[in-house]
Amino acid sequence: MRNHDPQFNQFGKLHHFLTLDGLDKETLTGILDAAEGFTGVNDKKIKNVPLLRGKTVANLFFENSTRTRTAFELAAKRLSADILNVDLVTSSTKKGESLLDTLRVLESLQSDMFVVRHSDSGAADFIARHVSPSINVINGGDGQHAHPTQGMLDMFTIRRHKGDFEKLCVVIIGDILHSRVARSGISALVTLGTGEVRVVGPQTLMPADVETLGVKVYRSIDKALQGADVVMGLRLQNERMTSATIPSSGEFYRTYGLTPERLKLAKPDAIVMHPGPTNRGVEIAGSVADGKQSVILEQVTFGIAVRMAVMSIIMGHGEAVREAEQAAS
Ligand code: CP
Repeated sequence: MRNHDPQFNQFGKLHHFLTLDGLDKETLTGILDAAEGFTGVNDKKIKNVPLLRGKTVANLFFENSTRTRTAFELAAKRLSADILNVDLVTSSTKKGESLLDTLRVLESLQSDMFVVRHSDSGAADFIARHVSPSINVINGGDGQHAHPTQGMLDMFTIRRHKGDFEKLCVVIIGDILHSRVARSGISALVTLGTGEVRVVGPQTLMPADVETLGVKVYRSIDKALQGADVVMGLRLQNERMTSATIPSSGEFYRTYGLTPERLKLAKPDAIVMHPGPTNRGVEIAGSVADGKQSVILEQVTFGIAVRMAVMSIIMGHGEAVREAEQAAS
């Protein structure tokens, strides 16, 4: 079965990392376990390991990013790879060069891995299908389709704080429709056997077929939050909205904003997550984002170890990852 998935090579090994859809529990757990080993490396005085020495990773960000781009850069450096940050805002793609011609140039620079962020859904998949078979492609977020490394760092954060997914109730609030983070998160939560995954938000920001993803849909945020172990906020992704979907950001905050009062409806030890960037006073109160239950900045930190794990695994260093885990433990 695995050989039909474009992410796997002919030997059934993970070669690209484009989406979490279709990845099994064993694969996801393997990434989380490897990332656990790399947090040990990140805590050491000398943080570098030689797993990707001599390799070149090209960060191809056609869309803005703070967290993802810098975390990939740090992850590559800690694995001893060379990192190429291509400024695609001023690159030749803006002068009419086709995406494929730009890719050929980057291939000529002997890159071994492309990390791609693009505003078009499917862009990373397109690139993976057109690059040389020796190059690994990681999706750093494509349109409203997928953000698989964000999904994995979110799972890592949840597992660190809450342990067994089967006992958990996770609530995702807000603009589910335009959110690649929600799509990847839901996919991973369902695969990992999460007890209950709830989504809540305005009907205009909810995908029509959202129940088929394995979630329970709520209209009332107060009801959705009751008994939650994990509360995940999402920003309104205005750049992907083609028409007015809510009356105003103020009205959104009044109806769906994560306020301190609302957070009290969740379990007292519930954690608050957000992929960032956060918009205080729109989807989340500043005091909640900065509060005791917030793990938002931890998510960013864990993103380095998770990306080290993904990069090492798809470059075929599974055995070496296990050795790094043992060395760090
Ligand atoms: N979470 C996330 O993707 O943030 P950036 O857009 O800053 O990379």
